[in-house]
Amino acid sequence: MRNKAVLFLTVFASMVACKKDTLVEVVDVPATPIVAIEQKGGKPSDLKAAEGAFELYALPFSYQALEPHVDATTMELHYAKHLLPYVNALNKSIIGKKYESMEIVDVLKNLNFSDVDVRNNAGAVYNHNFFFESMAPKAGGEPEGELLDAITRDFGSYDEFVRQFAETSVKLQGSGWIWLLSDKYGRLRIITTPNNDSPQTKGLGIVGIPLLNLDVWEHAYYLKFQNKKREYAYTFFSVVNWDKVEERYGAFSKSSAPAATTPSTTTETIEVPVETTLKVEEKSN
Ligand SMILES: [Fe+2]
Repeated sequence: MRNKAVLFLTVFASMVACKKDTLVEVVDVPATPIVAIEQKGGKPSDLKAAEGAFELYALPFSYQALEPHVDATTMELHYAKHLLPYVNALNKSIIGKKYESMEIVDVLKNLNFSDVDVRNNAGAVYNHNFFFESMAPKAGGEPEGELLDAITRDFGSYDEFVRQFAETSVKLQGSGWIWLLSDKYGRLRIITTPNNDSPQTKGLGIVGIPLLNLDVWEHAYYLKFQNKKREYAYTFFSVVNWDKVEERYGAFSKSSAPAATTPSTTTETIEVPVETTLKVEEKSN
């Protein structure tokens, strides 16, 4: 009987030890960063939007192409886990609506401002397409020609323009975008828009032609720069595709500015009426 009791206690102790070991193993599994789980390591061309009116912007360079200024992980997550879901959400949100046959910019220009889903999704798609198109490998430096002349005229110098643009990122509270706009006279100014709103968004009352934008949502920079938003904004100028920005600036004929007006060089934060402000969380999709 005593032997049986000893055997029972031994087996019981072994079971407890095994269970304990199992528990220890579970607790000791290293925490895998979420980004590593979500990373696919593929190519931009591997991705395709679900069937719908809008296709995913075809990124013309690899996820690694903007290294070291924009890291490949951020680039892939940004494109695959933010832009792509926005395109799919946009396609879903416009089914049966007048927007299905429009260009993305016309969706924004003809927007029903209170249609929150379309406003948010279309703004996100337009803004991100514009942003990705504004960057290129082996780019940066300074613009040339009439754009450089206008920057020098309206900001004092290229360096001063960069400073004002980058410092605006620090002043912008929450998620949003920084823009360089031109008016119809070719005069430049910097503005910000909150959430996924765009200068093209009907109802915001923004007048101007977008030339350049910067995504200042945390997903655009936090993996590499953490809280150093200013450093992210200055680094952006190492990858700006000035050829594209110059093309945008040269694509419209400038009216002669009225003699009585002075160039607008102020930085402007667009205030969205409280009752129409979107409640947009930093998306993980
Ligand atoms: Fe973004």
